[in-house]
Amino acid sequence: MRITMIGSGYVGLVSGACFADFGHTVTCVDKDAGKIEALRNGVMPIFEPGLDDLVESNVAEQRLSFTTDLSEAIQDAEAVFIAVGTPSRRGDGHADLSYVYAAAKEIAELSAGPLVVVTKSTVPVGTGDEVERILRETRPDGTYYVVSNPEFLREGAAIGDFKRPDRIVIGTDDAHAREVMSELYRPLSLNTPPLMFTGRRTSELIKYAANAFLAVKITFINEIADLCEAVGADVQEVARGIGSDNRIGSKFLNAGPGYGGSCFPKDTTALVKTGQDAAVPLRIVETVVAVNDQRKRGMARKVVTACGGSVRGKTIAVLGLTFKPNTDDMRDAPSLALITALQDQGAAVRAYDPEGVEQAKGMLRDVEYAPNAYDCVEGADALVIVTEWDAFRALDLSRVKRLLKEPVVVDLRNIYRADDMKRRGFNYVGIGRP
Ligand SMILES: NC(=O)c1ccc[n+]([C@@H]2O[C@H](COP(=O)([O-])OP(=O)(O)OC[C@H]3O[C@@H](n4cnc5c(N)ncnc54)[C@H](O)[C@@H]3O)[C@@H](O)[C@H]2O)c1
Repeated sequence: MRITMIGSGYVGLVSGACFADFGHTVTCVDKDAGKIEALRNGVMPIFEPGLDDLVESNVAEQRLSFTTDLSEAIQDAEAVFIAVGTPSRRGDGHADLSYVYAAAKEIAELSAGPLVVVTKSTVPVGTGDEVERILRETRPDGTYYVVSNPEFLREGAAIGDFKRPDRIVIGTDDAHAREVMSELYRPLSLNTPPLMFTGRRTSELIKYAANAFLAVKITFINEIADLCEAVGADVQEVARGIGSDNRIGSKFLNAGPGYGGSCFPKDTTALVKTGQDAAVPLRIVETVVAVNDQRKRGMARKVVTACGGSVRGKTIAVLGLTFKPNTDDMRDAPSLALITALQDQGAAVRAYDPEGVEQAKGMLRDVEYAPNAYDCVEGADALVIVTEWDAFRALDLSRVKRLLKEPVVVDLRNIYRADDMKRRGFNYVGIGRP
């Protein structure tokens, strides 16, 4: 089949490359000429493990191409995906749908169809109806089938998630759209069919409910971690103790500095707004949003305490900037709030991240970037581990201890064992452990 992908970011590029790998012919479009130019030269605009090889092989097979020109890309397409950003709208926290609506308008201006228009961006309930209205208003003679198909991939594991999803949710009541979507995903359905068809509004809500539920789970264990610290219990054992109950499940029970990233913060906030607009306040999610916001900046208090009550004039080494490992994505990363809070209290911050530094440079001020973990800690008054990159899991601890001015380690991901660190002479603080 011929597919057009509007938006070649984390979701559009990965989805486009994976659809091409299934055998479809995919054109990825983006307004960002620099991004398209890079892709045409075989340079990935984002860091995602395995993506460069996948793109290279499908470009070589002529199943995948890149353009800034939607009019060229949309000709002969049977389906066009909208995979543009839906960030938080400034000021009120609603999802900003201007990119989605602009894409819908462009589609109708350039093609009368018949065309299946698939919203892959995360969009609030009812957006599909508005996309349909825009298409019909712009092109009254056009034939469009508007489908919701939210994406559940995780950055850092995106290709595996796209190719081996737990489920694929498709929101449409239309028989033709259903047939086209089934055909697009058929290569995935050979063993077990993961397709789940629902109404369009239900599909839109599933995506938000999924992200909100995961955010609740993370925030719950984070609060339990605080309680563990107060009462002398160990959150990792609590997590194991409850997670082995398969009604609860062991995933998303790692206590840490609070959730961040390109999805959970904006999606939880947008869901709260949807609830308020529908006069159904989602009190649990509202609380989770507030608790998590406070937690990210609050992590600085842990560092200050570990440093003896003040960080003024001290140098703090930060390992890990991205919101999780194996991505370069810095959007709403906990490191941003933490570093700013430390700087506000008079600390100098030196940081290292394997992939996130370029994005971080545009979001943080006055941070010194080190070329590796050891240069980062040299002469620092404390080390703070913020993101659990594999490269930080087996640091040469004797070397770290020699390099640090003070042997203070604040491990916000609990990647080291407290007893072992104490034995090595560190003043070590984790999350939710005695
Ligand atoms: N990043 C994730 O892990 C993830 C996972 C699931 C769902 N989502 C959702 O997918 C959507 C996209 O997220 P992302 O992280 O890929 O965003 P992104 O910002 O990385 O990419 C969006 C791209 O769309 C382009 N764009 C915007 N308007 C355009 C237009 N009219 N024509 C062509 N290109 C246009 C932008 O230039 C940008 O490159 C969001 O709604 C997000 O919530 C993201």
